Amino acid sequence: MTRGGSTAPKRAAGESAAELVTDGMVVGLGTGSTAAEAIRALGERVDNGLAVRGIPTSFQSRELAREYDIPLTSLDETTPDIAIDGADQVADGTLVKGGGAAHAREKIVDTAADRFVVVVDPSKVAETLTHPVPVEMLPDARSTVAAGVRGLGGDPTLRDAERKDGPVVTDNGNLVLDCDFGGITEPDALATGLACLPGVVEHGLFVDCADEIHVGHSDGVRVER
Ligand code: 5RP
Repeated sequence: MTRGGSTAPKRAAGESAAELVTDGMVVGLGTGSTAAEAIRALGERVDNGLAVRGIPTSFQSRELAREYDIPLTSLDETTPDIAIDGADQVADGTLVKGGGAAHAREKIVDTAADRFVVVVDPSKVAETLTHPVPVEMLPDARSTVAAGVRGLGGDPTLRDAERKDGPVVTDNGNLVLDCDFGGITEPDALATGLACLPGVVEHGLFVDCADEIHVGHSDGVRVER
């Protein structure tokens, strides 16, 4: 699922990050519409002879990589030299991710990379994180994790609970709670609290993981961090 359409700022950020990739590199392939721009730009370079291998972070990014003939590998074979991924919100280098429910695999691949490059448009950059934090959990833990999130001061909503086909199910067969904490002033403590709830597979707070943030604008790219 690629949510949101292509825009000039997303394209600029994706292309800027894809330019960091050099011959022989292994690249973590992020999820979402901005990461898709990086995969597309990388695919064009592969078409022109660049030799890379990709490690996808989701079904969506795997399909896109195949479409662009980017050879694939896995974390069992090697580690990424670089990972390029989007974010739902960025404040002071900390990210909220998981709008595409792919944050568990994204966190594994992105943090395994020697260099983690985030690609966003300016609408994602904030002073303080306020975006609801996606929490992937085992289906059996849905109620207990929701209670734990309330105990941490959050307001959890099962993603797409009202959908005719049922709630969102991740690539790993789990459910997602979107947890509204208002303004997140202590992301480190919240990340620890969420990770400690039994049944939580992964949450979407990425604290101190990003090496660079490429913010695409209609007139170019600003690199932060
Ligand atoms: C998926 C993600 C995405 O990277 C995030 O939702 C941003 O997506 P987009 O670039 O489409 O706004 O974390 O799980």
